[in-house]
Amino acid sequence: MIQYSYANVGNFMSFFGDIFKKPKTDAIYEVKSPNNRLVTTFILDHGQISYFVKKDEKVVLRKSRLGLLLKDSSPIADGLAVVRAYSRNVDETWKAYWGEQHVIRNNYNETAIYLEEVEKPNRLLTLRFRVYDDGFAFRYEVPAQPEMKNMIVADELTEFSVDTNSRSWSIPAYQPDRYEYDYVEHPVYTLTDSVHTPITIQSPTGHYLAIHEAALYNYGGMTLKMNGSSLKADITPLSDGMRAYVELPFSTPWRAVIVASDLLDLTISRLILNLNDPPRDDFSWVEPTKFLGIWWAMYVGEWTWAPGERHGATTEHAMQYIDSCKNLGIPGLLIEGWNDGWEGDWLENGVNNKFMEATPDFDMKVVSDYGRANGVELVGHHETVGFIDNYEAQMEDAYKYLKQHGIRYLKSGYAGSKMTINGRREFHHSQLGVLHYQKALELAAKYNIMLDVHEPIKGTGIERTWPNLMTREGARGQEYEGGALTPSHACYLPFTRLLAGGMDYTPGVFDVGNFAKRVASTITRQLAYYITIYSSMQMAADRPQIYEAEYPDLFEFIREVPVKWERTVPLLGEIGKYYVVARQCWESPDWYIGGVTNEEGRKVEIYVDFLEPQVNYIATVYRDSEDAHYRDHQLGYVIEEKIIRNGDRIEMYIAPGGGFAMKVHKQ
Ligand code: NOJ
Ligand code: CA
Repeated sequence: MIQYSYANVGNFMSFFGDIFKKPKTDAIYEVKSPNNRLVTTFILDHGQISYFVKKDEKVVLRKSRLGLLLKDSSPIADGLAVVRAYSRNVDETWKAYWGEQHVIRNNYNETAIYLEEVEKPNRLLTLRFRVYDDGFAFRYEVPAQPEMKNMIVADELTEFSVDTNSRSWSIPAYQPDRYEYDYVEHPVYTLTDSVHTPITIQSPTGHYLAIHEAALYNYGGMTLKMNGSSLKADITPLSDGMRAYVELPFSTPWRAVIVASDLLDLTISRLILNLNDPPRDDFSWVEPTKFLGIWWAMYVGEWTWAPGERHGATTEHAMQYIDSCKNLGIPGLLIEGWNDGWEGDWLENGVNNKFMEATPDFDMKVVSDYGRANGVELVGHHETVGFIDNYEAQMEDAYKYLKQHGIRYLKSGYAGSKMTINGRREFHHSQLGVLHYQKALELAAKYNIMLDVHEPIKGTGIERTWPNLMTREGARGQEYEGGALTPSHACYLPFTRLLAGGMDYTPGVFDVGNFAKRVASTITRQLAYYITIYSSMQMAADRPQIYEAEYPDLFEFIREVPVKWERTVPLLGEIGKYYVVARQCWESPDWYIGGVTNEEGRKVEIYVDFLEPQVNYIATVYRDSEDAHYRDHQLGYVIEEKIIRNGDRIEMYIAPGGGFAMKVHKQ
């Protein structure tokens, strides 16, 4: 047995290795977090690989199997021996281009264990573990080797053996609406059908875990399900049942677990971003933004995406909306339904979508010129309906077309239950889906285009490497209002979906009582979303006339609220019940605080110990009135100002289905 300790590891990139003379089929490697509280132990037991994890001496994951199942050959999981191992410590900080936190520390201990099969074909496999104070990760690396040039992954053996009595929150996998489902609580032992990651888990020992993956490239997305007594990886299959076809050398995505003793700490872990590489190019051209859209008018039935009498995307409407952007101080305008082919049953007909041809009533040149003259940038729109063959045939020319018209932002969409790729129906989160999203992203980077992807592949932190991936949908957003959303949904998101990165929730609907699309929200809750749901491209989703004519006072908040933050301080929360968070501006010493609750109204007490001491701040508060209610008094709101200082405790009432937002300006 090999004992391994980090007691003497230096602080920065200290490498040391251990070369063995004889292969060993029994070994143990402990990898500890920099603060020593989280310990991951890799076990090689008679040639079989597994691991377990403890935090503060308590078991977080029981012994969990590792290994890859391959098509046409035996699994790489047994009969292995350690050839050598390397360890190092990394402690660095990096600056994000945008996000919830500007300066991010990346501090971990890493051990790579190089394994070789004892018997022929003597295949090689490396297990790389990284252990941080806020979680751990590992991945499989299969080097180039004489006996194997490529690999067909039939499945992974990877387990995450949490206590199966733990509570968990997740959405189901392999469903027609992809990630657009309500988060539901289940005891882990009942998860016999696959669920997506991130899955959030509260163990009986009181630990909070979020099991997810980082740096998902060229591989099926990981889902999880119970297998015997363990939660096991279930990699999304391709239509032929295989999980991935890869050339060697190949590394799987990181299997990553955030581990926190406090629920709110889950929400500020940067583990997933840290596991991704820094960008290879300069992305200083990337710029977060806010935008209006020819959009909600379609949802309330005033306009249509398809051409006809009530067509939304006309030159005339676009020019009116550009005027509104200018009046309201919003820099961007999304126009949906502008392109030729979007007609009839568009889910069926999406294969006809053309991305370089506008409908006869829409003149892209006139509109984009008018936007430029008025300082308003267009956000282009490509609804692919998942017809990837059709889209990829046009994609590069379509990006050139955007560029020709000076358009730097693009919202893309992948509606439909599956994608059509190479003539076959594939899951969005299969390897071929992942490859498509990546191709689109890299091509967008080539043309300096920033993306807001709807019906995306889930976030795995790749926006660190590709900062032009501004935001994604990938959960139920406000388009599900009008019946399918409850106020608790937005109280689940911060502890589940948002652990995977920002989300385009399309906030800012003020016409909450509209019979055609009733929104389960009070009006000030719509402002809270700009703080509680991070997105580097934030929409002001409602029609501009609502903002201009009816609520210029509330709109002031949307105009001012930033889209990137220096730092984020979660203040209060319970999964599915309420969430309150403070964020410090990137470009000023001001702060913003926002909070939402579920169907229950509640008083919260906000302790502002993060403000600069001995300084007066003017807090502009947008809150629910005492009699506001998401069902029958949605428009009850109060705007007030108060002076606050570090150390104050502010009482705030949040109505049922309500929310508040606060701008805290240094005097
Ligand atoms: C679904 C998207 O989430 C929504 O924002 C878009 O308007 C429709 N698809 C049409 O593309
Ligand atoms: Ca959607």
